[in-house]
Amino acid sequence: MSHIRGRFQKNATEAVIKYTSSLPFDWRMYHHDVRGSIAHAHMLAKQSIISTDEAKVIVDGLKAVESEIENSKFDFKPELEDIHMAIESRLAEIVGATAGKLHTARSRNDQVALDMRMFTRDAIREIQAAIRILQKALVAQASKNSDVLLPGYTHMQLAQPVLLAHHLLAYFEMFQRDFERFEDAYKRADVMPLGSGALAGAAYNLDREFVAKELGFSTVTQNSLDAVSDRDFVIEYLSCASLCMMHISRMAEELILWSSAEFSFVEMDDSYATPSSIMPQKKNPDVAELGRGKTGRIYGHLMGLLTTMKGLPLSYNRDLQEDKEAIFDAHDTLSNSLTVFAGMIDTLIFKPQNMSRSLAQGYILATDIADYLVKKGLPFRKAHGITGQLVSHAIATGKTLESMTLADYHEFSPLFAEDIHDISVARSASSKNVIGGTAPTQVAQQLERARKIVAEFFIC
Ligand code: ARG
Repeated sequence: MSHIRGRFQKNATEAVIKYTSSLPFDWRMYHHDVRGSIAHAHMLAKQSIISTDEAKVIVDGLKAVESEIENSKFDFKPELEDIHMAIESRLAEIVGATAGKLHTARSRNDQVALDMRMFTRDAIREIQAAIRILQKALVAQASKNSDVLLPGYTHMQLAQPVLLAHHLLAYFEMFQRDFERFEDAYKRADVMPLGSGALAGAAYNLDREFVAKELGFSTVTQNSLDAVSDRDFVIEYLSCASLCMMHISRMAEELILWSSAEFSFVEMDDSYATPSSIMPQKKNPDVAELGRGKTGRIYGHLMGLLTTMKGLPLSYNRDLQEDKEAIFDAHDTLSNSLTVFAGMIDTLIFKPQNMSRSLAQGYILATDIADYLVKKGLPFRKAHGITGQLVSHAIATGKTLESMTLADYHEFSPLFAEDIHDISVARSASSKNVIGGTAPTQVAQQLERARKIVAEFFIC
């Protein structure tokens, strides 16, 4: 655009145009850009900085530009650098000289800050809805499998029996925290920067609060230098996204393990697995693996933008343009992952028989035996030691804890009585009757709470 290159004698080279242009990716903020410009034009008219007629011409023109973009009739010219200039230049073609008044009291620096904040707000709301859908799938599977028991692990060693619903709801909790973290991040994105100008504010009598209200912002930024150069809200989005993706990845990892022949705790629906091109017996958990794999790129975007920002002096610097591909790609990756995983969870087929088979191995009731001795009066450390000897005897003699007779037990402590044989995986689980524990009554309450959280979201 000639007026922008004003004092320059030469045009940028092709390579420089390509290097500096954000249009190939920032076009996706066109809706936010148009909305922001409409609010700005309305405010300029309200403050008598432009006339009401001029504002109307501009607003109608902006709507026409938007509809061209929406109907794929818009010609994105790479030399126009970014979506802000592309829209303004097309507006000038449609409405003529009046278009030049839109940019009064505004800079692309506060304009892009505004668009990014609007984009981030919408992105957060989209992710929150996707989180709820995934949580709903977890709740549905927990309800469907409410009495299934499986081994719980620590250090990947058989530890204690837990309810499958309890295990699934552990992920519900992680995603609940993610939802809340995004809600908190929303607050920081929800601050309106327009009126900050290039960096120092604007030399016009603006009504910034009016613009904020029109665009649904809670408040306006308080320091123009900060407002044009702050991308903390994008970094917060990326950081929330990284945590959420880390949770998806952990879940993916378990599903991959559980669907192996060694565990065989779960089978993926055919529509969420892929066949091997060479080994016909295989059903590969590629979808889960990709969820685990894509986590890396979201972390990468977080590290990337933190690094981009770390040495930037005030105020706006072009480096900030790097915020866009980071959040766009992170957003698409997270949003698709949440959606695909919700479908995958919904269609999982659990295999309770294989879970009970595993429960029968590995002396998983050893802690219950120690607890038994404690209830008969032994200090826990002592009870733990006796049970350890008992387990090592059982291993050496090839016995299970169930197949040992009372006489066998008496070798280790006189406190054992016939009721030692009452110990079972089901009793073990139901004895963990504390808030957050794996006892069925507790898990039922956790499930009820989870169900309510999901239901409330879909009612509103
Ligand atoms: N495309 C730019 C960005 O994304 C818009 C702001 C450009 N401002 C400027 N003074 N060159 O950051």
